[in-house]
Amino acid sequence: MHPATQPLRAIRELPDELISQIAAGEVVERPASVVRELVDNALDAGATHITLRLLAGGVRLISVEDNGVGIPAAELPVALKRHATSKITSLTELESVGTMGFRGEALAAIQSVSELSVLSRTASQDNAMLLDGQSGELQPAARAQGTTVEVKELFYSTPARRKFLKTDNTELAHCVEAVRRHALTRPEVGFAIWHEGKLVEQWRAQTVDATSGEDLNLQHQRALDRRLADVLGDDFLENSVAVHYQSGNVTVIGRAGIPDAARARADHQFSYVNGRYVRDKVVTHAARSAYEDVLHGHRQPVYALYVEIEPTRVDVNVHPTKIEVRFRDGREVHQAVRHAVENALAVPRANLIMANALQNHELPMAGTQAQPAWPSANWQQAAMPLAGNRVSDLGALWQPSPRHGLPAQEQSEQAFVPDQVHATPPSLQDAAPETWPLGKALAQLHGVYILAENTHGLVLVDMHAAHERIVYEQLKTQIDAQHVSSQPLLIPATFPASAQEVATAESCAEALQELGLEISTLSSKTLAVRAVPSTLAQGDAVALARSVLAELSQHDASTVVQRARNELLATMACHGAVRANRKLTIDEMNGLLRQMEVTERSDQCNHGRPTWRQLSMRELDALFLRGR
Ligand SMILES: Nc1ncnc2c1ncn2[C@@H]1O[C@H](COP(=O)(O)OP(=O)(O)O)[C@@H](O)[C@H]1O
Ligand SMILES: [Mg+2]
Repeated sequence: MHPATQPLRAIRELPDELISQIAAGEVVERPASVVRELVDNALDAGATHITLRLLAGGVRLISVEDNGVGIPAAELPVALKRHATSKITSLTELESVGTMGFRGEALAAIQSVSELSVLSRTASQDNAMLLDGQSGELQPAARAQGTTVEVKELFYSTPARRKFLKTDNTELAHCVEAVRRHALTRPEVGFAIWHEGKLVEQWRAQTVDATSGEDLNLQHQRALDRRLADVLGDDFLENSVAVHYQSGNVTVIGRAGIPDAARARADHQFSYVNGRYVRDKVVTHAARSAYEDVLHGHRQPVYALYVEIEPTRVDVNVHPTKIEVRFRDGREVHQAVRHAVENALAVPRANLIMANALQNHELPMAGTQAQPAWPSANWQQAAMPLAGNRVSDLGALWQPSPRHGLPAQEQSEQAFVPDQVHATPPSLQDAAPETWPLGKALAQLHGVYILAENTHGLVLVDMHAAHERIVYEQLKTQIDAQHVSSQPLLIPATFPASAQEVATAESCAEALQELGLEISTLSSKTLAVRAVPSTLAQGDAVALARSVLAELSQHDASTVVQRARNELLATMACHGAVRANRKLTIDEMNGLLRQMEVTERSDQCNHGRPTWRQLSMRELDALFLRGR
């Protein structure tokens, strides 16, 4: 019989135990959920060391041991009650809650689906007390200050739930992941994970010493970096850049992986809001969009981002496990995260590598370069002004400055007149060539690659890809400043055009002008290019005009340049970039390398591929089995 046809029974309040079991359905999905709640509690208790012991992936036993403040004997039984918490007492406190927990339901929920016991001792007690959750029995026991919560036989009373659990190894992996998320935000706390008596993971506490006199932020950054390396591997640290950003109510710190370090899966993306691990659409989307311009296809960026925001501007009480949050102003958070990551990624990596080298005293110090106290974080600030005055005063290199006005085709052979003085940014000019991050050009390989020598060894540059990015960034800067400098052609380049092309040229004249292009109609079948962006002056004006017209014809409104800006500029940059198989002089090669050093995002071409690679002496030695 269908249940709906049964007569309804009298309304009754549910027994406490059942309420907790229902609540457990939301909070406790698997052993890892228990681990998360218990580690949350240990952190809230101020623990500096947390040990997790598991049997059978956590199903047989989860024990979390901490050296926090402990629970006073009299409060032990209360701790297991539903909605019993020491963390908030009012709605106002909830609005600015700084602890991980506040709902007071984890222990009660866990107890309702397992055999739970709590052993705890505060600083003022002579001995610890052990509370058995089943019997409610409280008895003296031995333990140093802190708390151990033991959870045995998870879901023993709810076999349906137990059936959903995966293999021990899978559950173990989830438990480790749960601790990892905590470990990445609390470097000052040590963690150890044991499974079946074996040490599975151990992350040492990274101390921050307020009395050492060293800047606390720097110390924290260093502690965090070490923890990131311990948990995610040295690779993560080496292949990421420091994020340091503050705007209005929002601060974003952490590390963002370089595009090269992207993975097939999104399994190295950690975001935190006020120290709490979250999976939040706003943050994730903002981070992803920061990679738009440097990472293409389906690769997943890696990052650990820590958003700090005034507690009243974020609601953490929207999800039982608090993995989701709601921002009062999602836009401000989105913008902050996006800018934070974009800024970090914009700094050419060569400079960062160089900064590390300088820090390690592998190189003679460059006279004008400030020595960073802490390589990645500080150098970034040091490098910013350098990157800030980039393209505008560097554009000279690839432009035929003395020959303005010649038709593009005729100039092509003499176009590459590098002006070493202008091409080299002031700070690098003063620096000795051996401190140039991308090194001194040596030769060109098959018209495709530039070979250069720096202190680490050999640098290989894909010259077309690199130059394409430089031109693209120049165009972006110009169009943002609403001034794409245009260069009239002395002899207009005429070409036979389709009806479609003629129509587009006429209807999009304004858009074309914004892009620095002037195309006029000579007849219903002929167009003439009269001016091109100076940045692209040495390219093929007709080919450029044709691809821009093709691109424009796909859009209609007058705002096309704003909406399709990056696609349009990328198309244009491709035409302006030095082609493969073009012979460059050593000076021209050096000019290109110096421009790369100061151009934002120059480590990737417009399609997200790397523009240069370093082959270190060690790697070269290995190729020749040297020193073995
Ligand atoms: N490891 C611990 N150390 C100290 N106190 C703890 C610990 N675990 C739990 N408690 C106490 O028990 C209370 C209830 O814990 P819990 O059910 O997780 O709720 P919440 O964390 O939301 O307050 C906490 O408020 C805290 O006072
Ligand atoms: Mg809790």
